[in-house]
Amino acid sequence: MLKHETLEKNSILLLIGILIVVSIGGIVQISPLFWIDSTIEKVQGMRPYTPLEQAGRDIYIREGCYTCHSQMIRTLRDEVERYGHYSLAAESMYDHPFQWGSKRTGPDLARVGGKYSDQWHAEHLIDPRSVVPESIMPAYPWLAERKLDTRNIKERLQTLRAVGVPYTDEMIEKAEEDLKAQVDPDSRAARELLQRYPKAKVAKFDGKPGGEVTELDALIAYLQVLGTLVDFASFDASGPNLR
Ligand code: HEC
Repeated sequence: MLKHETLEKNSILLLIGILIVVSIGGIVQISPLFWIDSTIEKVQGMRPYTPLEQAGRDIYIREGCYTCHSQMIRTLRDEVERYGHYSLAAESMYDHPFQWGSKRTGPDLARVGGKYSDQWHAEHLIDPRSVVPESIMPAYPWLAERKLDTRNIKERLQTLRAVGVPYTDEMIEKAEEDLKAQVDPDSRAARELLQRYPKAKVAKFDGKPGGEVTELDALIAYLQVLGTLVDFASFDASGPNLR
């Protein structure tokens, strides 16, 4: 009783006491991380974004799509039933900045890749009400008109490499060719692109003939890759580190 009073009346002692108690709480939370090899699970299939997907990602951010859409499926039953396997840390390890979010005016997009055709996406982005009559999503018609600015694509990949995305020298060197190749099916360049970026979708995303790469091409290429890279058949959720 008396001892506690000394602690309460002496601010320095109280401060030291608080520090000790808070540190114990901190250690309990932090120390488990020292005993697992990695907080990012090891998965098959993750690769950096292709230059076109990355450019699309930049447009996604520029247009503020994240203000209505999250990209993180939580480990809750209703989410997994609606959207698919819950999101893994590994799936956003090359995302700078990540797009997890918590605001969902529209649905989560973490696994939207492959859910719709390119044409559906093109129509939906130009005029959402044309395919989903009750939609409240804004229209983005200018994406189809605007030519994609590709001038600094190499620098963008280089910047990402500086923060840890494993782009090789070759990927950076060929960034512009790879970007154009992704909207040019059957070309030799497209085959090279696929060697560098397995599973990349090569298509005329905006549905328009001609060589011009539009912002719509890039955004759809990005949407179509979301959630498609990790091979869940070979993924063991219990993880080698946790057993
Ligand atoms: C004001 C909020 C809002 C913004 C901003 C917004 N969306 Fe949406 N989005 C919605 C709503 C609501 C839906 C559900 C209705 C529909 O399908 O149109 C939706 C649906 C979608 C879907 C279909 C998802 C599915 O699984 O059916 C995609 C893809 C999508 N949005 C992409 C985008 C992209 C890309 C952008 C940025 C260019 C964007 N959205 C911006 C509200 C928004």
